[in-house]
Amino acid sequence: MKQKRKVVTTPAARAGTKRMPTIRRIRPAIAPAPARPGREVRARSGSAVRPPPDVQDDREPVDLSVDLGRGLVLANPVLVASGTFGYGIEYGDVVDIDRLGAICCKGTTLRPRIGNPTPRVTETPGGMLNSIGLQNPGVDAVVEKYARTWAGWRVPVIVNVAGESVADYVEVTRRLDGIPGVAGIELNISCPNVGKGGLQFAIDAAAAGEVTAAVRRATELPLLVKLSPNVADIRPIARAIADAGADALTAINTLSGIAVAPGRLAPLLGNIYGGLSGPAVKPIALRVVYEVAQAVDIPIVAIGGVTELADVLDFLAVGAVAIQVGTAIFADPTLPVRLVDELATECRRLGVPSHRDLVGTALPKRAAPPSVKGVEYRP
Ligand SMILES: Cc1cc2nc3c(=O)[nH]c(=O)nc-3n(C[C@H](O)[C@H](O)[C@H](O)COP(=O)(O)O)c2cc1C
Repeated sequence: MKQKRKVVTTPAARAGTKRMPTIRRIRPAIAPAPARPGREVRARSGSAVRPPPDVQDDREPVDLSVDLGRGLVLANPVLVASGTFGYGIEYGDVVDIDRLGAICCKGTTLRPRIGNPTPRVTETPGGMLNSIGLQNPGVDAVVEKYARTWAGWRVPVIVNVAGESVADYVEVTRRLDGIPGVAGIELNISCPNVGKGGLQFAIDAAAAGEVTAAVRRATELPLLVKLSPNVADIRPIARAIADAGADALTAINTLSGIAVAPGRLAPLLGNIYGGLSGPAVKPIALRVVYEVAQAVDIPIVAIGGVTELADVLDFLAVGAVAIQVGTAIFADPTLPVRLVDELATECRRLGVPSHRDLVGTALPKRAAPPSVKGVEYRP
């Protein structure tokens, strides 16, 4: 393991802002907005939300920073999802990269992969199915080609890591550890574990915990682990990953699906199976985040069908501290940066100093401690 270092990306972070818990409110890192006229209403989280003011003041500061742990403090909570924004460099001409909260780059493996047979992508109602198959040049080429450019950006780049064994994940991580330009690791554990008959790491709490713990031991980089929705109960898996030392969870990866070829004599995709993404998966992603937010205390970054500000607000309400935009980028690469501006405007409209005031408002109130009579009181 190389030397421990901090990845700090905002002035607030450099000033030593505290790590943010998943659903609890924290103090804003900047001065709160001045009080406005109007009766205060109480959000379910207990935070004060003022009714919309009559006059907007665009100069009012809004603190959109997000602390994902281990010094990874993002300037804002809008990230781009792995596999939908390449290595970031491809979008440099169309997007002001440095205005993003973070970039999760394409899935990276130990050795180069040519990906799955074609066709690999098809449109579906409200989304798409893809079976790219983790096509990538391998970790060494990724570092050689992109890390120097990433190091010059203000936006942190989180490298999405995939593998077929615990040893694979550890080795890829080891080669990324200490590389300037690599701000964190996101583990894509929706991959078959060849040592366990091809069972995905993500669907088994013990395997998910094992791979997380092994990677944790290999690096001091901030470690995010990406949950799969293709499970019966996500909570024990999320807990196992949190207990194994992940700094944050990202949720969700794609849902397994198939499409049928024209003529109906075979499945359409060359790999038969594909991953469903886009607006169609949003209700499932919301449910996963809602459940996980009540099961763990580490930050959750939500992904799944974000196409507009209302989606961002919904994910915050069920306990996410940040979101990733994926499939929607194919239609409009400028969407993520626009969402940053719209979220700030929405915070001003609501009269809250930070989007963090909007986190967890739709979650059930935590149960109070048992009463002296031993009867649990649920308000
Ligand atoms: C074309 C494509 C490629 C993807 N590649 C990866 C990948 O390499 N690693 C990963 O963890 N997720 C990958 N994903 C999943 C996305 O990061 C995201 O979790 C999922 O698409 C749901 O978000 P969305 O509905 O906003 O697209 C990919 C998704 C798409 C559409």
